[in-house]
Amino acid sequence: MKIFVDSANLTDLEEALKRGFPAGITTNPSILAKEEKTDFRDHIRKIIDLVQRYEYDIPLSVEVFSAKPKEMICQAEEFVEHFGFYKNLAVKVPVGWDELAVIHELRKRDIRVNCTCCMSFNQAIMAANAGANYVSLFFGRIRDTGYDAASVVRQVRNTFREWNAPTEIIVGSIRHIHDVNDAIQAGADIVTVPPQFFRQMTSHPKTDEAVHQFLTDFERWLS
Ligand code: E4P
Repeated sequence: MKIFVDSANLTDLEEALKRGFPAGITTNPSILAKEEKTDFRDHIRKIIDLVQRYEYDIPLSVEVFSAKPKEMICQAEEFVEHFGFYKNLAVKVPVGWDELAVIHELRKRDIRVNCTCCMSFNQAIMAANAGANYVSLFFGRIRDTGYDAASVVRQVRNTFREWNAPTEIIVGSIRHIHDVNDAIQAGADIVTVPPQFFRQMTSHPKTDEAVHQFLTDFERWLS
């Protein structure tokens, strides 16, 4: 089980990298659009610089931003040209009928693919069969449709296991810290978490109470 950081914010990424837990980073066009307007290539390069400064070698997903298959392939090639020096790059391609051909083509060119925006079991298994290295299941958005997101993850997990599929399951679209738990229990290999949840994931009021009690008891004893 691995935790990725679902962000392109340099400050948030640095705060996470300092703490040693990130096993990868995922971005998407909306996440990038939250940052100060710039050439996105410069921003991705800054993320890679930061990751390397902290001596990590972790997967970084960058998503194509076109709905046209030919353009997706050109953009993926462009990503490789610009960021290919970072060997752990994965190109995110949304799932879809025409997009499967993109995934297949990119895999033939030895480009790692994270097939994103998967909301169903069928999408995930089709993407895996097309050769995707990762499938990203969108927990919160699946739940929005009324489906049990954990059971979708569990079914994909069981099938990948039965088939010995090498594809890793990323669960994204995390809306609460208990989604992280639910996704892991359902069999996600990776959960990609927005930075606003990390502090909450390490705190508990009873921890604060215990730490406060230990310090107060010891200070009293010393005085
Ligand atoms: C995952 O890789 C995506 O970037 C992300 O989790 C999408 O989630 P959203 O539903 O918050 O857009």
